[in-house]
Amino acid sequence: MKPSRQTAAWQTAIPAALALAAGGCVYDRSILAPASDSAGLLAALGWPVFVGFTVVTAVMWGLLAWVAWRRTGTLAEHAPADSGGGRWWVLLGGFLVPVATFAVIFVAALQTMAAVPMPMTERPPDVRVIGHQWWWEIEYLYGELPEHFASANELHIPVGRPVEIELQSVDVIHSLWVPRLGGKTDLVPGQTGRMRLMADRAGEYPGACSELCGAQHANMKIVVVAHEPDEFERWLAHERSPGAEPETAAEERGRELFEHRACVACHTVRGSTALATVGPDLTHVGRRRRIGTSLPNQTATLHAWIVNAPSLKPGVRMPALPEFRGDELHDLVAYLEHLQ
Ligand code: CUA
Repeated sequence: MKPSRQTAAWQTAIPAALALAAGGCVYDRSILAPASDSAGLLAALGWPVFVGFTVVTAVMWGLLAWVAWRRTGTLAEHAPADSGGGRWWVLLGGFLVPVATFAVIFVAALQTMAAVPMPMTERPPDVRVIGHQWWWEIEYLYGELPEHFASANELHIPVGRPVEIELQSVDVIHSLWVPRLGGKTDLVPGQTGRMRLMADRAGEYPGACSELCGAQHANMKIVVVAHEPDEFERWLAHERSPGAEPETAAEERGRELFEHRACVACHTVRGSTALATVGPDLTHVGRRRRIGTSLPNQTATLHAWIVNAPSLKPGVRMPALPEFRGDELHDLVAYLEHLQ
């Protein structure tokens, strides 16, 4: 089997049709719609398995229907079991066929594992991803040390270039999985792991933690944003810059609140006096797609999140902050939204 890196039209059309049937939001998380070389290898194995097992399932249901349809006699006149009959069926369908099928899949899986490009551990990583209950800290290590910076929950990468990622965890085992870009890799506390990600096309590729890690495992989402290389350089330059200076009176008051109240105990906004690293770096939080990893980044959600984050994400480490209300809450959110 020589899987191709190029995605055939049908490989895009079929998962898209399945996704439509399933509610329209599955395609961008489908391993059968690969957008990278290693995901293409996994899909090349996944498709025959998917089609094969669909056929097997159809045959099994067909046989069951046939048995039900040709049923003879009644319970009262049921004949004694014929102990000699059907032994070939059992041997063939229950043993020989499954053993042969799984042997073929096993060998194909070994070939696929050997073909997937491995991380280049002799090279320093481009990015460090650190798992937290329940969010992703992401450090961009491009350039010299003063150019490194941290962000959260969005992993921006250049198209067509393999990105070397170092993996760590500060608490429990997490697992980073972006289905359209490749397989999963665990983030193990006390160990440093590596993985390699590459995207063939610009776009957004949703992913998630795929190792049960506590109450909000299901809300530990990540999105990989693949940019064309020059756009990626612009993104890097912008993200390296300190947080925007307030422009309106409300934003000014919002920064005062941020720097002198609860926020400063956990968060960083580069360029301000807030330098704590317990929670996500908020230097450019206004540009993020989501907050709390899965909620839309909108004024109303920011208000609700600040006042009572645990009501939106039970178990979250950020406490409820009901002391923020009225004008103060408005000004604080105005400042956060200004951090573009
Ligand atoms: Cu982190 Cu599941």
